[in-house]
Amino acid sequence: MFSGTAGVSGRIVENVFLYIAVISVSLLLIITSLMVYFTIRYRRKKHPQPVQITGSTWLEITWTVIPTFLVLTMFYYGYVGFHTLRSTPKNAMKVRVIASQWSWLFEYENGVKAPELRVPVGKPVELLLTSRDVIHSFYLPAFKIKQDAVPGMESHLWFKSTSTGSYDVLCAEYCGLQHSYMLSKLRVLSEEKFNQWLQAAKKEREAEAAKEPAGLQLFQEKGCKACHTIDGTLLVGPTLKGLFGKTVTVTTEGKERTVTADETYLKKSLIDPGADVVKGFPPIMPTQKGVLTDTEIKEIVKYMKELK
Ligand code: CUA
Repeated sequence: MFSGTAGVSGRIVENVFLYIAVISVSLLLIITSLMVYFTIRYRRKKHPQPVQITGSTWLEITWTVIPTFLVLTMFYYGYVGFHTLRSTPKNAMKVRVIASQWSWLFEYENGVKAPELRVPVGKPVELLLTSRDVIHSFYLPAFKIKQDAVPGMESHLWFKSTSTGSYDVLCAEYCGLQHSYMLSKLRVLSEEKFNQWLQAAKKEREAEAAKEPAGLQLFQEKGCKACHTIDGTLLVGPTLKGLFGKTVTVTTEGKERTVTADETYLKKSLIDPGADVVKGFPPIMPTQKGVLTDTEIKEIVKYMKELK
Protein backbone atom coordinates (compact mmCIF):
# COMPACT_ATOMS: atom_id res chain seq x y z
CA MET A 1 0.00 0.00 0.00
CA PHE A 2 2.78 2.44 0.88
CA SER A 3 5.13 3.01 -1.99
CA GLY A 4 8.59 1.61 -1.51
CA THR A 5 7.59 -1.29 0.70
CA ALA A 6 9.34 -4.51 -0.11
CA GLY A 7 9.95 -7.98 1.19
CA VAL A 8 8.27 -10.16 3.74
CA SER A 9 9.34 -7.95 6.65
CA GLY A 10 8.01 -4.82 4.94
CA ARG A 11 4.59 -6.40 4.61
CA ILE A 12 4.52 -7.62 8.21
CA VAL A 13 5.44 -4.24 9.68
CA GLU A 14 3.08 -2.43 7.33
CA ASN A 15 0.12 -4.66 8.25
CA VAL A 16 0.67 -4.23 11.98
CA PHE A 17 1.05 -0.50 11.52
CA LEU A 18 -2.16 -0.29 9.47
CA TYR A 19 -4.07 -2.39 11.99
CA ILE A 20 -3.05 -0.15 14.90
CA ALA A 21 -3.62 3.00 12.87
CA VAL A 22 -7.14 1.99 11.80
CA ILE A 23 -8.16 1.16 15.39
CA SER A 24 -6.64 4.36 16.77
CA VAL A 25 -8.23 6.59 14.14
CA SER A 26 -11.65 4.91 14.60
CA LEU A 27 -11.49 5.42 18.36
CA LEU A 28 -10.44 9.03 17.89
CA LEU A 29 -13.39 9.66 15.56
CA ILE A 30 -15.94 7.92 17.81
CA ILE A 31 -14.78 9.67 20.99
CA THR A 32 -14.48 13.10 19.36
CA SER A 33 -17.95 12.94 17.76
CA LEU A 34 -19.51 11.79 21.05
CA MET A 35 -17.82 14.67 22.86
CA VAL A 36 -19.08 17.20 20.33
CA TYR A 37 -22.57 15.66 20.44
CA PHE A 38 -22.79 15.79 24.25
CA THR A 39 -21.44 19.32 24.38
CA ILE A 40 -24.20 20.54 22.10
CA ARG A 41 -26.99 18.33 23.40
CA TYR A 42 -26.43 19.15 27.09
CA ARG A 43 -25.41 22.79 26.72
CA ARG A 44 -26.45 25.16 29.52
CA LYS A 45 -29.16 26.92 27.50
CA LYS A 46 -31.13 23.70 27.06
CA HIS A 47 -30.24 22.22 30.47
CA PRO A 48 -29.92 25.06 32.98
CA GLN A 49 -30.27 22.60 35.86
CA PRO A 50 -27.68 19.76 35.79
CA VAL A 51 -29.06 16.36 36.74
CA GLN A 52 -27.01 13.87 38.71
CA ILE A 53 -26.77 10.46 37.02
CA THR A 54 -25.71 7.20 38.62
CA GLY A 55 -23.29 4.79 36.93
CA SER A 56 -24.20 2.09 34.47
CA THR A 57 -22.62 -1.29 35.06
CA TRP A 58 -23.10 -2.64 31.55
CA LEU A 59 -21.61 0.53 30.05
CA GLU A 60 -18.58 0.29 32.35
CA ILE A 61 -18.06 -3.35 31.42
CA THR A 62 -18.41 -2.63 27.71
CA TRP A 63 -15.89 0.18 27.60
CA THR A 64 -13.41 -1.82 29.64
CA VAL A 65 -13.73 -5.14 27.83
CA ILE A 66 -13.69 -3.85 24.24
CA PRO A 67 -10.52 -1.71 24.54
CA THR A 68 -8.76 -4.47 26.52
CA PHE A 69 -9.57 -6.92 23.77
CA LEU A 70 -8.42 -4.48 21.09
CA VAL A 71 -5.12 -3.77 22.84
CA LEU A 72 -4.51 -7.50 23.29
CA THR A 73 -5.08 -8.12 19.57
CA MET A 74 -2.58 -5.33 18.79
CA PHE A 75 -0.05 -6.98 21.06
CA TYR A 76 -0.68 -10.40 19.58
CA TYR A 77 -0.44 -9.14 16.01
CA GLY A 78 2.74 -7.21 16.81
CA TYR A 79 4.28 -10.14 18.66
CA VAL A 80 3.67 -12.60 15.84
CA GLY A 81 5.34 -10.16 13.43
CA PHE A 82 8.25 -9.55 15.79
CA HIS A 83 8.74 -13.27 16.25
CA THR A 84 8.90 -13.81 12.48
CA LEU A 85 11.33 -10.90 12.08
CA ARG A 86 13.64 -12.34 14.74
CA SER A 87 13.58 -16.01 13.65
CA THR A 88 16.01 -16.63 10.84
CA PRO A 89 14.97 -19.48 8.51
CA LYS A 90 17.45 -22.38 8.50
CA ASN A 91 18.08 -22.23 4.75
CA ALA A 92 19.09 -18.55 4.81
CA MET A 93 22.08 -17.41 2.79
CA LYS A 94 24.67 -15.82 5.08
CA VAL A 95 26.32 -12.50 4.29
CA ARG A 96 28.70 -10.75 6.66
CA VAL A 97 28.19 -7.00 6.93
CA ILE A 98 31.14 -4.94 8.11
CA ALA A 99 30.44 -1.33 8.98
CA SER A 100 33.16 1.27 9.29
CA GLN A 101 33.43 5.04 9.21
CA TRP A 102 31.91 5.55 6.66
CA SER A 103 31.14 2.67 4.41
CA TRP A 104 29.54 -0.76 4.25
CA LEU A 105 31.29 -3.91 3.17
CA PHE A 106 29.44 -7.11 2.32
CA GLU A 107 31.32 -10.37 2.47
CA TYR A 108 29.97 -13.57 0.96
CA GLU A 109 30.69 -17.12 2.03
CA ASN A 110 32.94 -17.71 -0.98
CA GLY A 111 35.16 -14.78 -0.01
CA VAL A 112 33.71 -12.19 -2.41
CA LYS A 113 33.63 -8.71 -0.90
CA ALA A 114 31.50 -5.93 -2.31
CA PRO A 115 30.44 -2.40 -1.39
CA GLU A 116 26.85 -3.18 -2.39
CA LEU A 117 24.60 -5.99 -1.20
CA ARG A 118 23.41 -8.28 -3.96
CA VAL A 119 20.98 -11.10 -3.20
CA PRO A 120 18.86 -13.58 -5.16
CA VAL A 121 15.11 -12.91 -5.15
CA GLY A 122 12.90 -15.05 -2.91
CA LYS A 123 15.73 -16.45 -0.84
CA PRO A 124 16.00 -15.63 2.88
CA VAL A 125 19.23 -13.79 3.61
CA GLU A 126 20.85 -13.62 7.03
CA LEU A 127 23.09 -10.65 7.73
CA LEU A 128 25.81 -11.05 10.36
CA LEU A 129 26.68 -7.51 11.33
CA THR A 130 29.70 -6.07 13.01
CA SER A 131 31.59 -2.80 13.10
CA ARG A 132 35.25 -1.84 12.90
CA ASP A 133 35.01 1.36 14.90
CA VAL A 134 31.86 2.89 16.35
CA ILE A 135 28.21 1.83 16.48
CA HIS A 136 26.46 2.01 13.12
CA SER A 137 22.98 0.86 12.24
CA PHE A 138 22.15 -1.09 9.12
CA TYR A 139 18.85 0.22 7.82
CA LEU A 140 16.76 -1.03 4.90
CA PRO A 141 13.81 1.40 4.84
CA ALA A 142 11.81 -0.41 2.14
CA PHE A 143 12.01 -3.64 4.12
CA LYS A 144 11.26 -1.83 7.38
CA ILE A 145 14.20 -3.44 9.15
CA LYS A 146 17.11 -1.98 11.08
CA GLN A 147 19.85 -3.45 13.23
CA ASP A 148 22.84 -1.96 15.04
CA ALA A 149 26.34 -2.95 13.98
CA VAL A 150 28.42 -2.91 17.15
CA PRO A 151 32.22 -3.22 17.41
CA GLY A 152 33.31 -6.40 19.20
CA MET A 153 30.08 -8.31 18.74
CA GLU A 154 27.95 -9.85 16.03
CA SER A 155 24.30 -8.97 15.56
CA HIS A 156 21.83 -10.63 13.22
CA LEU A 157 19.13 -9.57 10.83
CA TRP A 158 17.30 -11.47 8.15
CA PHE A 159 15.05 -10.55 5.27
CA LYS A 160 13.43 -12.08 2.24
CA SER A 161 12.70 -10.14 -0.92
CA THR A 162 9.57 -10.80 -2.91
CA SER A 163 10.55 -9.08 -6.15
CA THR A 164 13.67 -7.91 -7.93
CA GLY A 165 14.73 -4.30 -7.74
CA SER A 166 17.15 -2.00 -6.05
CA TYR A 167 16.70 -0.46 -2.62
CA ASP A 168 18.50 2.05 -0.40
CA VAL A 169 20.74 0.99 2.44
CA LEU A 170 21.29 3.67 5.08
CA CYS A 171 23.16 4.07 8.33
CA ALA A 172 20.65 4.95 11.03
CA GLU A 173 22.99 5.68 13.92
CA TYR A 174 24.89 8.95 14.06
CA CYS A 175 28.49 7.82 13.63
CA GLY A 176 30.52 10.90 12.81
CA LEU A 177 31.12 13.50 10.15
CA GLN A 178 30.16 11.49 7.07
CA HIS A 179 27.27 9.61 8.69
CA SER A 180 24.72 10.91 6.20
CA TYR A 181 26.87 9.72 3.30
CA MET A 182 27.16 6.19 4.65
CA LEU A 183 24.91 4.83 1.93
CA SER A 184 24.80 1.68 -0.12
CA LYS A 185 22.37 -0.29 -2.28
CA LEU A 186 20.58 -3.58 -1.98
CA ARG A 187 20.17 -5.13 -5.40
CA VAL A 188 17.73 -8.01 -5.61
CA LEU A 189 18.52 -10.08 -8.69
CA SER A 190 17.01 -13.17 -10.24
CA GLU A 191 18.72 -16.31 -8.96
CA GLU A 192 20.42 -16.83 -12.30
CA LYS A 193 21.78 -13.28 -12.50
CA PHE A 194 22.89 -13.43 -8.90
CA ASN A 195 24.86 -16.63 -9.42
CA GLN A 196 26.45 -15.18 -12.54
CA TRP A 197 27.49 -12.09 -10.61
CA LEU A 198 28.85 -14.09 -7.68
CA GLN A 199 30.91 -16.30 -9.97
CA ALA A 200 32.22 -13.33 -11.94
CA ALA A 201 33.04 -11.41 -8.76
CA LYS A 202 34.94 -14.39 -7.42
CA LYS A 203 36.99 -14.70 -10.60
CA GLU A 204 37.63 -10.98 -10.66
CA ARG A 205 38.76 -11.08 -7.08
CA GLU A 206 41.18 -13.88 -7.77
CA ALA A 207 42.53 -12.12 -10.84
CA GLU A 208 42.94 -8.87 -8.94
CA ALA A 209 44.63 -10.58 -6.04
CA ALA A 210 47.16 -11.89 -8.50
CA LYS A 211 48.04 -8.53 -10.06
CA GLU A 212 47.08 -5.68 -7.74
CA PRO A 213 49.37 -4.64 -4.94
CA ALA A 214 48.04 -6.02 -1.66
CA GLY A 215 48.21 -2.47 -0.28
CA LEU A 216 45.59 -1.16 -2.71
CA GLN A 217 43.22 -3.99 -1.78
CA LEU A 218 43.68 -3.26 1.89
CA PHE A 219 43.18 0.44 1.22
CA GLN A 220 39.81 -0.34 -0.37
CA GLU A 221 38.63 -3.05 1.98
CA LYS A 222 39.70 -1.65 5.33
CA GLY A 223 37.73 1.52 4.86
CA CYS A 224 40.73 3.88 4.32
CA LYS A 225 39.18 5.24 1.15
CA ALA A 226 36.23 6.74 3.05
CA CYS A 227 38.55 9.54 4.24
CA HIS A 228 41.71 9.39 2.12
CA THR A 229 42.20 9.51 -1.62
CA ILE A 230 45.10 8.34 -3.73
CA ASP A 231 44.58 10.94 -6.46
CA GLY A 232 45.24 14.19 -4.58
CA THR A 233 41.65 15.21 -3.80
CA LEU A 234 40.81 15.98 -0.20
CA LEU A 235 38.15 14.22 1.82
CA VAL A 236 37.95 14.20 5.60
CA GLY A 237 41.60 13.21 5.82
CA PRO A 238 44.71 14.17 3.84
CA THR A 239 45.35 12.55 0.49
CA LEU A 240 47.96 9.82 0.39
CA LYS A 241 49.23 10.86 -3.02
CA GLY A 242 52.83 11.99 -2.87
CA LEU A 243 52.77 11.83 0.91
CA PHE A 244 55.88 9.72 1.34
CA GLY A 245 58.94 11.86 1.88
CA LYS A 246 56.93 15.08 2.18
CA THR A 247 57.27 17.51 5.07
CA VAL A 248 54.07 17.59 7.08
CA THR A 249 52.93 20.08 9.71
CA VAL A 250 51.39 18.21 12.62
CA THR A 251 50.12 18.97 16.08
CA THR A 252 51.79 16.84 18.73
CA GLU A 253 50.45 17.18 22.27
CA GLY A 254 49.05 20.60 21.45
CA LYS A 255 52.29 21.88 19.85
CA GLU A 256 52.80 22.42 16.17
CA ARG A 257 55.88 20.92 14.54
CA THR A 258 57.02 19.63 11.19
CA VAL A 259 57.95 16.07 10.45
CA THR A 260 59.04 14.10 7.44
CA ALA A 261 56.55 11.51 6.27
CA ASP A 262 58.92 8.58 6.36
CA GLU A 263 58.14 4.94 7.01
CA THR A 264 58.15 5.36 10.79
CA TYR A 265 55.76 8.31 10.56
CA LEU A 266 53.35 6.41 8.30
CA LYS A 267 53.36 3.38 10.56
CA LYS A 268 52.81 5.51 13.65
CA SER A 269 49.95 7.34 11.94
CA LEU A 270 48.19 4.01 11.43
CA ILE A 271 48.70 2.65 14.93
CA ASP A 272 48.45 5.88 16.94
CA PRO A 273 46.70 8.41 14.69
CA GLY A 274 45.98 10.76 17.58
CA ALA A 275 49.67 11.33 18.36
CA ASP A 276 50.54 13.54 15.39
CA VAL A 277 47.46 15.15 13.88
CA VAL A 278 48.03 16.75 10.49
CA LYS A 279 47.32 20.50 10.51
CA GLY A 280 43.97 21.40 9.03
CA PHE A 281 42.35 18.01 9.63
CA PRO A 282 40.13 16.85 12.50
CA PRO A 283 41.62 14.29 14.94
CA ILE A 284 39.10 11.59 14.06
CA MET A 285 41.05 8.77 12.51
CA PRO A 286 40.45 5.51 14.41
CA THR A 287 43.48 3.47 15.37
CA GLN A 288 44.25 0.52 13.14
CA LYS A 289 45.79 -1.39 16.02
CA GLY A 290 44.08 -4.76 16.11
CA VAL A 291 42.38 -3.97 12.80
CA LEU A 292 45.43 -4.41 10.61
CA THR A 293 48.01 -7.12 11.18
CA ASP A 294 51.71 -6.22 11.14
CA THR A 295 52.03 -7.65 7.64
CA GLU A 296 49.04 -5.62 6.47
CA ILE A 297 50.54 -2.44 7.90
CA LYS A 298 53.78 -3.18 6.06
CA GLU A 299 51.86 -3.74 2.81
CA ILE A 300 49.92 -0.48 3.16
CA VAL A 301 53.03 1.52 3.97
CA LYS A 302 54.80 -0.08 1.01
CA TYR A 303 51.84 0.89 -1.17
CA MET A 304 51.84 4.49 0.11
CA LYS A 305 55.52 4.83 -0.73
CA GLU A 306 54.65 4.13 -4.35
CA LEU A 307 51.84 6.71 -4.53
CA LYS A 308 53.88 9.40 -6.20
CU1 CUA B 1 27.50 4.76 10.21
CU2 CUA B 1 26.02 6.52 10.76
